[in-house]
Amino acid sequence: MAKPRSNPDLLSFSYFFPTGQTDHIWSDEAARSTPTLGRKVFLDMARAAEDAGFDSLFIADTWSGHQRVAERHGHQSPKYQAPLLAMGLFAVTEHIGVITTIHTSHHKPAHVARMGATLDAFSEGRWGWNVVTGFGDAEARLFGEDAIGAHDERYAVANEFVDLVKSLWVEEEPLDVEGRYFTVRGRLKAPRPVQKPHPLLVSAGASPAGIAFAARNCDQLVVAGNTGEKIQAAGERLETALAAEGRVGEVGTAPFTITIVREGDGEAEEEYERLAGSLNLEATTELAADILGGVESIRSIIAEQGPEAARAWGSGRGILKLMGTSEQVAEQLIRLKAETTTSNVLVNFPLWNPDEVRGFGKVLDHLREAGVWTPPSTRDFSW
Ligand SMILES: Cc1cc2nc3c(=O)[nH]c(=O)nc-3n(C[C@H](O)[C@H](O)[C@H](O)COP(=O)(O)O)c2cc1C
Repeated sequence: MAKPRSNPDLLSFSYFFPTGQTDHIWSDEAARSTPTLGRKVFLDMARAAEDAGFDSLFIADTWSGHQRVAERHGHQSPKYQAPLLAMGLFAVTEHIGVITTIHTSHHKPAHVARMGATLDAFSEGRWGWNVVTGFGDAEARLFGEDAIGAHDERYAVANEFVDLVKSLWVEEEPLDVEGRYFTVRGRLKAPRPVQKPHPLLVSAGASPAGIAFAARNCDQLVVAGNTGEKIQAAGERLETALAAEGRVGEVGTAPFTITIVREGDGEAEEEYERLAGSLNLEATTELAADILGGVESIRSIIAEQGPEAARAWGSGRGILKLMGTSEQVAEQLIRLKAETTTSNVLVNFPLWNPDEVRGFGKVLDHLREAGVWTPPSTRDFSW
């Protein structure tokens, strides 16, 4: 898997790999209808994504949270540790990339440098790192800290962390660095990463500090928004930050989507409404609380604004929907490519199973005919 990283005229596609019976929408019906996660299912899903033509898998990860009810019902649970899961998936695939989430909070740079080097060398250059700073105090307490660091400082830590990891990946001579947050003395054993200058780096921060982090360090920025205009606005904010770094055009945007493809007219939308009709509101409250703050404060917001607020969260109303027949979804993607700076699309199927994933191959066929996608197995870059 060689560079250059991507062709700006093409779209690439990451399959948002299951990290639970549901990821979004938090529907009990979806949790019951998806195959129970375990070794065989993970391997079948990875092979199905490779067969369909996906460029990469994206594996989210968190350590802890409020999620008692969510766990009981399978909403964003069980969540296997991303880099460990990736090793299993690399063993049964040939060319699909695997982007794993790893935190900069709670670890040391040498841990991640070594893990990443092993993943990239073992996979012959197919590994990417989704750099996250962590969600909240529940995770921090697991590591013996009272609370997670202040928001912008977490990104300052992450900047130093990523600089050190990148140095450990390339430097032949021992490092002797006493930074503000980390001290590193010495050099990393082989193997070193295969991808040069370094493996793919992705992030998903939306705040000014998060966007500045992506502009300074990353190759892709995951963005959330339920319309093309919002996705484009996020792309413009990124371009401004890239100009400040002297990296204009070097970081692509990757919208996160909820995708349902059904060949009957209106069937995809009906499926979405059916799933949204069986939301688990208590699990939604817990999961929203992990993303937004304390579970009690979310309960009081929902008590004030009514269950409609929870429904909006739990059914992903703020997320871009790709819904319709394969031809309609392909048209939606061609429009997205024309109207925004999108380079990669993160595809999350709420009712995932191997057939659902393989079915996306029909969308990719339309896109290939339209000249905006080529199969990763036929080109010399993957991201
Ligand atoms: C699609 C998507 C996936 C994400 N996956 C993770 C994840 O797996 N683990 C995590 O800790 N944070 C994850 N995040 C959260 C981001 O890393 C980031 O913390 C969040 O978007 C808030 O960023 P901000 O504080 O800069 O606005 C994800 C965000 C998005 C939009």
